[in-house]
Amino acid sequence: MDHFNYKDGELFAEGVALKDIAKKYGTPTYVYSKATLERHAKAYIDSFESMSGLVCFSVKALSNISILKTLRISGCGFDIVSGGELHRAILAGADPKKIIFSGVGKSKDEMVAGIKHNILSFNIESEAELDRLTSVATEMNKVAPVAIRFNPNVDAGAHEFTKTGRKSDKFGVSTKTAKELIKKCTESKSINLVGLTCHIGSQIMELKGFEDAAKQALELMIALDELEINLDFIDMGGGLGVSYVGEETFQPSELIRCYETIFAGRNEKLILEPGRSISANAGIMLTKVEYEKDGFRITDAAMNDLLRPALYNAHHDVWPLVESNKQTTEVNLVGPICETGDFLAKNINISASQDDLLAVKTVGAYGFVMSSNYNSRPRAAEVLVDNKKFYLIRKREDHSSLTAFEEGLDDQI
Ligand SMILES: Cc1ncc(COP(=O)(O)O)c(C=O)c1O
Repeated sequence: MDHFNYKDGELFAEGVALKDIAKKYGTPTYVYSKATLERHAKAYIDSFESMSGLVCFSVKALSNISILKTLRISGCGFDIVSGGELHRAILAGADPKKIIFSGVGKSKDEMVAGIKHNILSFNIESEAELDRLTSVATEMNKVAPVAIRFNPNVDAGAHEFTKTGRKSDKFGVSTKTAKELIKKCTESKSINLVGLTCHIGSQIMELKGFEDAAKQALELMIALDELEINLDFIDMGGGLGVSYVGEETFQPSELIRCYETIFAGRNEKLILEPGRSISANAGIMLTKVEYEKDGFRITDAAMNDLLRPALYNAHHDVWPLVESNKQTTEVNLVGPICETGDFLAKNINISASQDDLLAVKTVGAYGFVMSSNYNSRPRAAEVLVDNKKFYLIRKREDHSSLTAFEEGLDDQI
């Protein structure tokens, strides 16, 4: 459930008319609802019953510091995948003991930063990575906390590019290698084994894949019990799918119930790393129709602002800001970028004329974070709505921000 609704024929985010945001900050602009973010974080946090839980919001989904602050205050920790995301989480006031560092390619500098900040865990995805972390920790005379990411070889559906749990994917190690790496961790003075982890993909619409992965995790945990190796936590990653165009979805409570059933009687903490299911429905993108042309409506937002349609052929609902009775027509919503792949929505029924304002829905995850400056287009503004107030949380870029890091403007090159 989100907080974007029509009131007297006008689209609102919580208590704010979206047209007022467009008037003040222009378009394209990402708008997030604080109440929706808080509600979704709570839906996870309040659902743990038999296991103690920690929800680490996956920063890659939506990384604006004000959003991270909101989620930190709601009780979330963070799942990060880069030194940049660590920097953001720290600026947002995150408790480092609630930060998990995922990802297959951590650099030495990123490992040093994670150790200095005393994070909860490095989720390790290969032997080479474990070896590098061991030598970094040894050099620093520190002990690095580690969870081993195993790959359960399950195909849980979703888009080819967002599946991460198959043997053929680059993520994690086989259960056999996981056991070997775990043993290696226990033999190292510079490594503290704290957990076991996996993440099978994103926008997963069935619980079966999560169950299969959890059952394999349990088998591994039982094998470790026999070796008297204890873990602090089992981290099952994120991946729960959301409704983009009316699909049926599972609630966080249903996912957690399924994990708690499989892990019944265990003492490990259950960590989850949801991204999309917390932030996707909490964001819309405001855009204006620039031109009408045959079956097209050309908007001021483009694939550089929202990449998901071009990258994944993803579908997003589009709502007009004014709920009109005008007859709808089937149109393609496209941007000004010089690519045929630059579209926001295809074959949608909407009444949209020049200068009309539209809201592209469910863009709070993998929306702004994937935006770029392609075609030298400044990135959009970001606004956070809190009840009847709204705050600019990222300024719209301008032409000088586009060239700010370029050298040679003074003819030296
Ligand atoms: C390791 C890891 N954890 C969590 C997530 C978040 O996934 P989602 O946004 O589908 O919940 C991802 C995203 O791909 C990921 O790679």
